[in-house]
Amino acid sequence: MIADVDQFSEGLLMGFTQLFTGIMTIGGTLLFMASINPLITVVVVLLTPISLFVASFIAKKTFTMFRHQSETRGELTALTDEMLGNMKILQAFGYQKEAQARFEEINGRLEGYSLRATFFSSITNPATRFVNSVVYAAVGITGAYGVIRGFMTVGQLTSFLSYANQYTKPFNEISGVVTELQNALASAARVFELIDEEVILQDKTDAVELKDVKGKVELQNVSFSYAPDQRLIENFNLAVEPGQRVAIVGPTGCGKTTIINLLMRFYDVKSGAVKVEDRDIRDVTRKSLRTNYGMVLQETWLKSGTIRENIAYGRPEASEEAIIQAAKEAHAHGFIMRMPQGYDTPIGEDGGNLSQGQKQLLCIARVMLCLPPMLILDEATSSIDTRTELRVQKAFARMMEGRTSFIVAHRLSTIKEADVILVMKDGKILEKGRHEELLAGNGFYAELYNSQFAKA
Ligand SMILES: Nc1ncnc2c1ncn2[C@@H]1O[C@H](COP(=O)(O)OP(=O)(O)OP(=O)(O)O)[C@@H](O)[C@H]1O
Ligand SMILES: [Mg+2]
Repeated sequence: MIADVDQFSEGLLMGFTQLFTGIMTIGGTLLFMASINPLITVVVVLLTPISLFVASFIAKKTFTMFRHQSETRGELTALTDEMLGNMKILQAFGYQKEAQARFEEINGRLEGYSLRATFFSSITNPATRFVNSVVYAAVGITGAYGVIRGFMTVGQLTSFLSYANQYTKPFNEISGVVTELQNALASAARVFELIDEEVILQDKTDAVELKDVKGKVELQNVSFSYAPDQRLIENFNLAVEPGQRVAIVGPTGCGKTTIINLLMRFYDVKSGAVKVEDRDIRDVTRKSLRTNYGMVLQETWLKSGTIRENIAYGRPEASEEAIIQAAKEAHAHGFIMRMPQGYDTPIGEDGGNLSQGQKQLLCIARVMLCLPPMLILDEATSSIDTRTELRVQKAFARMMEGRTSFIVAHRLSTIKEADVILVMKDGKILEKGRHEELLAGNGFYAELYNSQFAKA
């Protein structure tokens, strides 16, 4: 993308400056030639555009080659980026040879396209120069004829020829620019393809702000799947009162995170509706919906910046005390103070210099600082050691008071206190109820629970 945009702007810049000086020269020389001899001027004017025809004919051929070239260049950059980004995996699985082979294959194709593109584009100039020389000869012959017949003097012919020469030069340059522009256009076509890509989930034009959220959430007959021919969630119904704690449990891949994605409207439901405060979430702005949720997820999202900036991400105006308080609640304060610059320690993109658990604690502190009316904790403590987890759980429990929360957890001991436990399997709710009820029911939940505590 960057290479394409560069190519495009370079082509345009070169194209337009040359085009501008070219047009000025053509206009000026035309004026002088006409003042010397209008008849021969007409000959010149009629013959010169032939060079442009020749140029555009070749340019059409070069366009396809430039197009292939920029596509292959993109492919090569993508491969390099992926391989460098996943260097560790690459080395761990000994994939170097294959990666090298893939690189060389694409590089070979790129070489072929570039060679042809350069070849075609560089024959343009000689071809147009040839045409111009023919024009020059034609002017010489008609001019000589005119001198013999006494229409003009030798001096006039000499200066006319010199002007004709000046006049055809810009055509050469412009034809050179045409190939440059072809390259720019080939790149531009790829850029426009991306720009024209439809935005799938746009806010409705009459979308309203979601205000005064108490935390009433409803899923009505929701069906959803990522791929059309794959079934995942079907006729899912759930009503959550403000302040309720909903726990979602179930085997890996059963659709827990998918439900969260639907609540946050990262995806739209296929049928049915998700409602917050009795309002279909498709009728409210995405921004107002999401600011009402606080999320801590399996995977952590950190940006490059200091630890302080990362904690205050959702509330940049927060005071120092509030930030430290939130970090303490999340039990992150201790490790932050052990970092070389404390809260000012810079962390790399995606928290490069932190452990997985530390990253998660930072994400927890971030939510503790914002305190939105609704919470989503999807395996929020999956990377934290059990002792710290217990403490963080307590902080969560305090935070969840009076807030609607959705908790996804594999360790069932962490969700015993929930108001509703949804036991999911293959996208459906299998059981629903409080911990004790579900245990007494002796169903799938009891089985899951007992399997975790069999040894104890
Ligand atoms: N972006 C996606 N595109 C296509 N299919 C997906 C996508 N994300 C998840 N799936 C599929 O949807 C199903 C449910 O995935 P989901 O992430 O909801 O599982 P989960 O219950 O959160 O599992 P886990 O406990 O491992 O986090 C899985 O079978 C998965 O393959
Ligand atoms: Mg998940």
